[in-house]
Amino acid sequence: MRVLGIESSCDETAASVVEDGRRLLSNVVASSMDLHAKYGGVVPEIAARSHIESIVPVIQQSLDQAFPALVGNQAEQWSQIDAIAVTYGAGLGGSLLIGVLAARTLAITYSKPLYAINHVEGHLYANFLTETSLPDYVLPAAQPQFPILGLIVSGGHSQLVSFRSHFDYTLLGQTSDDAIGEAFDKVAKILGLPYPGGPSVSKKALEGNPLAFQLPKAKLSGKYDFSFSGLKTAVLRLAQEQIGEDFTFLSTGIAARLSEQQKADIAASFQRVAVETVVDKTLLAYEEFQPASVIIGGGVASSPELRCQLSDRLPRPIEYTDLKLCTDNGAMIATLGCYKATLGAAPADPYSLDISPNLSM
Ligand code: KG4
Ligand code: ZN
Repeated sequence: MRVLGIESSCDETAASVVEDGRRLLSNVVASSMDLHAKYGGVVPEIAARSHIESIVPVIQQSLDQAFPALVGNQAEQWSQIDAIAVTYGAGLGGSLLIGVLAARTLAITYSKPLYAINHVEGHLYANFLTETSLPDYVLPAAQPQFPILGLIVSGGHSQLVSFRSHFDYTLLGQTSDDAIGEAFDKVAKILGLPYPGGPSVSKKALEGNPLAFQLPKAKLSGKYDFSFSGLKTAVLRLAQEQIGEDFTFLSTGIAARLSEQQKADIAASFQRVAVETVVDKTLLAYEEFQPASVIIGGGVASSPELRCQLSDRLPRPIEYTDLKLCTDNGAMIATLGCYKATLGAAPADPYSLDISPNLSM
């Protein structure tokens, strides 16, 4: 079973071919991130326009990478594909539309079954990839085993999910306000660090003392729920206090008044507490559900601090996927598509599949 996965929910146009839900044959990602950097965040109209420009070449490149002996012979390449999987939510409406319309058109043209994939669920399926002949991928040695505890930490989502088997899961908890990745992005803005915030806060934190400042952890009634907006506000207040002047200037003026050491200490202290927040709850869920495997997915899953804290505190060894498969990609969508196709999930109607920007798990 070979599935072509298409992903366009935010600022990455991505396509990948995955075999039998475990073998990565290709993974092509075109990002419009650089175009958004000067605005400090994703501009939906720019993202949608970039998807339009990139979607056809990205899909063709992913077929060429998967079937190099058939380059130039599209009909033969398509005969190797058994199904198409596409992200239909959650994400930006204009961005999702491009991927979904491309997938619908290809499914009709080449008579392939089409599977509609939840992006957030997809993130966790990157962990099922264990084999590839592509260079520069470090994949887990074995697939995760059910029952699985999944932690999703991305720019739009922070969720803990308990899986009994494929597609049979319970959402244990989620953020009541900002996602953890969003908190990294906002703290980066306060500190004047470049977009996307996660990697730049991580990098700055390397020069700082994670115990320099005490920042609050939110207390919530839901045992497995998270909240990050209070932490973000606490960082803003801390930065203002560090400057020591009155606070009449705009918050955009903060970064220029902080020393590099102050920025590094704030970044390190924020990162420690943000990561501790999700690791505390993951441990709590681990104790209650005793999963056979713990997996993490989403852009923040590439955070070295998160990987370090999880590995230190979890009683069971945890395997992590390649950093390139943590941020948005088509491989995670193709992998989940493989399981949908093999386990008999109903395909979508290629003539009517619609996007679902607010889709949740
Ligand atoms: O999964 P993703 O690519 O897109 C969404 O589905 O949202 O995640 C993007 C998020 C951004 O907020 C980015 O700042 C964060 O992942 N991120 C990180 C790191 N790398 C990316 N956050 C913390 N540490 C990192 N190393
Ligand atoms: Zn994502």
